[in-house]
Amino acid sequence: MDNNNITLAIIKPNAVRTGKTGPILSLINEAGFEIVAMKMIKMTKNHAKLFYSVHKEKPFYESLVEFMSSGPVVAMVLKHENAVEEFRKLIGNTDPAKAEPGTIRKMFGISIQMNAIHGSDSIENARWETNFFFSEIEKFY
Ligand code: RTP
Ligand code: MG
Repeated sequence: MDNNNITLAIIKPNAVRTGKTGPILSLINEAGFEIVAMKMIKMTKNHAKLFYSVHKEKPFYESLVEFMSSGPVVAMVLKHENAVEEFRKLIGNTDPAKAEPGTIRKMFGISIQMNAIHGSDSIENARWETNFFFSEIEKFY
């Protein structure tokens, strides 16, 4: 499935826990992204370790894995022209304190780690990440 117009988003545990799933989905919708796959799951520590394996040498890795497996998340595949880049604009800086007004992280992030939402950082990673979460019968693009 070669599609350059998709990205993977994850509404993180802090945002799901505090009832921000609906408001975040509205912003995604209003920004013109089409949801082409979606599910709510609670990752095991092993899932989270594998998903974030690119960060395994980073000092925040263990804590990030704990956090991301601490409660349910909403994973989705979003379709849009230049999806990766456009979605990263919509979510804003990794650190909510540095994110632009109107971005999802500015509105719903509470710390660098609990920054409410994930977005893929490249087309290759978007493909890998969507395949990590979704099987063939769960993808509609
Ligand atoms: P994401 O992957 O979640 O879309 O975020 P990102 O590209 O903006 O940030 P990245 O560098 O990929 O980091 C992944 C997630 O790790 C947590 N983090 N904590 N200094 C820290 O404590 C730190 N730095 C990053 C964040 O949850 C970040 O989104
Ligand atoms: Mg990243």
